[in-house]
Amino acid sequence: MESTLVLVKPDGVQRGLIGIVINRFERVGLKVTAMKMVLPTRELAEKHYPLEKEWYEALWKKTKEGYESKGIPFKETPIGIGTRVRNGLIEALTSGPVVAVVVEGNSAISIVRKIVGATNPEKADPGSIRGMFTTDSYDLADRNKRAVRNIAHASDSPETAKKEIATWFTKDEINRYKRADEDIVN
Ligand code: CDP
Ligand code: MG
Repeated sequence: MESTLVLVKPDGVQRGLIGIVINRFERVGLKVTAMKMVLPTRELAEKHYPLEKEWYEALWKKTKEGYESKGIPFKETPIGIGTRVRNGLIEALTSGPVVAVVVEGNSAISIVRKIVGATNPEKADPGSIRGMFTTDSYDLADRNKRAVRNIAHASDSPETAKKEIATWFTKDEINRYKRADEDIVN
């Protein structure tokens, strides 16, 4: 069984989407093992979004594709956009309370990413959380000088899941219990 970290970001909390976001994971049979509402400090937000080369290079590539698919030229460098987006993300994450959740189950990391949907809500599948609840896009966020408001965060690999869970929760905040449908789901 895998565990992954989900954050209902401040935009998701402020739009009243906490319940529906968590319900999307519960109803496929994934188990909530930890949950809390936190107003992140700058230190916590910086720790959650470290400026790593692998991260900003992937972010540069998808942002470039998003711009070019709309016929808008894109000239930023990977480190340039990485630094800029990270600053915007830290500002957004510290702007209001976040709900942090640990979700456990079969292939939890990839299944949760699938349910959350693509980073760019404009291109996210309509049934995903990001596709269902917003129309935001890279260029709109940039024009308004803010991070893309895409409702939720989800860990993207086993390594980041482990690190992110440890960033938001202590070991004794993670609970163990049996769901009534566990033997049928798994
Ligand atoms: O959240 P996800 O893992 O899908 O994407 P990411 O590449 O790790 O980027 C983290 C967050 O940065 C995104 O969820 C967006 O909120 C934000 N972002 C942005 O504001 N502008 C971009 N051009 C790319 C990402
Ligand atoms: Mg990410």
